[in-house]
Amino acid sequence: MTKQPKKAKAARRPAACAAITAVHGYVPPDVLTNAELAQMVDTSDQWITERTGIKERHILRGKGLGTSHMGAEAVRGLLKKTGIPPGDIDLLICATTTPDFVFPSTANLICDMVGIRGIGSFDVQAACSGFIYALNIGAQFIETGTYRKIVVVGADKMSAIIDYTDRATCVLFGDGAGAVLLEPGRQYGIMDVLIASDGAGAKHLHQKAGGSRMPPTAETVAKRLHYVHQEGAAVYKYAVARMAEVATDLMERNGLTSKMVDWLVPHQANKRIIEATAERTGLPLDRVMVTINKFGNTTAATIPLCLWEYEGKLKRGDRLLLAAFGGGFTWGGIYMTWAYDPPKSQTGGSAGEKQAAKGATRRLAAKLAGILPLALSGSFAASLLRRE
Ligand code: ACO
Repeated sequence: MTKQPKKAKAARRPAACAAITAVHGYVPPDVLTNAELAQMVDTSDQWITERTGIKERHILRGKGLGTSHMGAEAVRGLLKKTGIPPGDIDLLICATTTPDFVFPSTANLICDMVGIRGIGSFDVQAACSGFIYALNIGAQFIETGTYRKIVVVGADKMSAIIDYTDRATCVLFGDGAGAVLLEPGRQYGIMDVLIASDGAGAKHLHQKAGGSRMPPTAETVAKRLHYVHQEGAAVYKYAVARMAEVATDLMERNGLTSKMVDWLVPHQANKRIIEATAERTGLPLDRVMVTINKFGNTTAATIPLCLWEYEGKLKRGDRLLLAAFGGGFTWGGIYMTWAYDPPKSQTGGSAGEKQAAKGATRRLAAKLAGILPLALSGSFAASLLRRE
């Protein structure tokens, strides 16, 4: 890195508050376990668990299903649980790194799929920090009084850009989506935000081909350049430093001690990064949201999926510190106070558990060849089938 990013300025003091008033999530039913990955690449459940904290991840299977499918499921659930008709939504923003198409945007597609018509919708791309960026953008529209009901989605089908012959990346990621409703809040809501980036980090974490710099050709496909390239150790160093920095900056700016923070909501890239962030902010692990064990890193979906999983434990007035780091490099954080008590009919973590349990009966094993045609060369697929 050639330059230090600008140091955080003083806390923002919005005249009006934007509050999350509902959250919903979706993970596809198919589960890929560490044991199954160990059948595909030279790895083990022990290595993955010890080095990352991941035990399993959900993978979206099904012809023609992209990120929008999961985003639409999350938004449908959100509208259903709030009883808000699609026509009442003023704006939809989708954070994703794995859009269905280069264009139209995944946000456009989600609107169409759930019956939201005629409103503004667009995607935000900031890799694993995408949801923090998108939430920040949505909050501005509420704070200025421009809109009153905004849906912010974080959704990624990472399995579409992961090389399932590369043990250094394929164990890390999963698929999923989360969606929140943003509305004007009276007392509680988003208090302070912080976003940052450093493009010099691109060389450590990027997808080489498929964009305008290297459009797809038979050669780029043959060289497997359409997959995530990550130099794990280099990214790890920055992730640990920036996640802690963003969280402690927000605490300092807002006069928060660790005792005053009820929940740390960290991006879930690696359990060790989560623990280091908790340690630097002085928060015990029982006040840190952790979903990495069952979802892996779901990129932009990670933070809304955390909120969904823990919705049943969140109380009105709880102080939450959100922090994320990802490709770019990008990083960011949000300090918010939670606006509502747990809903009576619990649809958060328990629904997730149900979906996961259903998924456990649909293990992937050799079926991966169907979803990842580019990932699996003929001989690799054949060796996989032999193991069956
Ligand atoms: N199974 C077994 N061994 C493995 C595996 C695996 N799945 N993956 C790597 N190894 C090996 C390596 O080959 C290496 O072997 P060597 O010493 O013989 O060369 C050894 O393990 C150590 O490799 P490291 O990369 O140094 O392992 P590390 O402890 O750093 O863990 C990891 C790798 C998990 C990727 C870690 O570096 C990490 O979490 N990085 C940060 C990820 C992150 O935050 N990304 C940002 C968000 S993602 C986004 O924005 C899209």
